[in-house]
Amino acid sequence: MPVEVKIIPDNATLARVAAQEFHRLAEAGIQERGRFSVALSGGNTPRTVYSLLAEEHKELSWDRIHVFFGDERHVPPDHPDSNFRMASESLLSKVPIPRENVHRIRAELEPEGAAQDYDGQLAEFFHLNDHDWPRFDLIFLGLGDDGHTASLFPGSSALSDVSSRVAANWVEKLKTFRITLTFPVLNHAAEVVFLVSGESKAQILSAVLRPGAGKYPAQGVQPESGRLLWLADQDAGRLLPSATPATR
Ligand code: 6PG
Repeated sequence: MPVEVKIIPDNATLARVAAQEFHRLAEAGIQERGRFSVALSGGNTPRTVYSLLAEEHKELSWDRIHVFFGDERHVPPDHPDSNFRMASESLLSKVPIPRENVHRIRAELEPEGAAQDYDGQLAEFFHLNDHDWPRFDLIFLGLGDDGHTASLFPGSSALSDVSSRVAANWVEKLKTFRITLTFPVLNHAAEVVFLVSGESKAQILSAVLRPGAGKYPAQGVQPESGRLLWLADQDAGRLLPSATPATR
C-alpha cells in the first residue's frame, strides 16, 4: 500500500485537513455500515484537531460515532496526563456523543487488568473471537521524538507482541506502564492517519520515512489492506526530500 505524505503549511491547516478527513470517513462509514469507529491519538498534536471537530463538525451524526483510544497513560481519567481527559476536554464533552459510544481505556486499573478490560471492550463492539482483529475505520497516530507511536516505544516488549490486541507495555525510559493497541490492530485498520507537527519532529519524521531505515516503531505501521496517510506541517516536514506543500 503506497504511503501518502501531505506537507501542510501550518498546524492550524493540518488540524483542518485532519478534521475534514475524520468527517469524510465518518459520513462514509455511517452511510455504508450505520456506524463509524475511530481510535484517537494522545499527546499534544491532536488537541487542535479535536477542538476543531467540536467547533466546526457538530452536525456529524455523533450518535453513530464510536470513539476508542490508541493508547493511554497509566493514570486515572481525571489526571492531567490522561489522553481520555484531553479528548474529553477538547472534543467529547462538546459534541452530542452518547456516553456508551466512548470506549475508554480504564487505566485506573492495574496495567494488565486495564489491557484485558479494553480487549473485552473491543471484542464486544467488533464481535470478535479470540484470534480476530478489529478493523477500525480510522486510527489517528502521533510520532514521538524517539520514533514511538501510540505507546509502542523503542525497546519495549509490545513491539513484538503479535498475538494480543491490547498490551500493558512497560516503558523503561518513562519508568511506567502504558496501555496500547498493538501493531496487528493498527495494521488492520481501514485508514491510519499520522499527525506530525513542529520543528522538533523534523529529524525523526525524515528518518522514519527514509525507506529501509527500519529502526523506529512508527515504521511498523503498514496497514495490510488500508490507507496510510502522513499529515505533517511545514516545520515537521522541512527535511523531507521536497518539502513543498503538495501531495506526494
Ligand atoms: C501518547 C501518544 C503518543 C503521542 C506521541 C506524540 O499517549 O503520548 O499516544 O504516541 O502521539 O508521543 O506526542 P505529541 O503530539 O505530544 O508530540
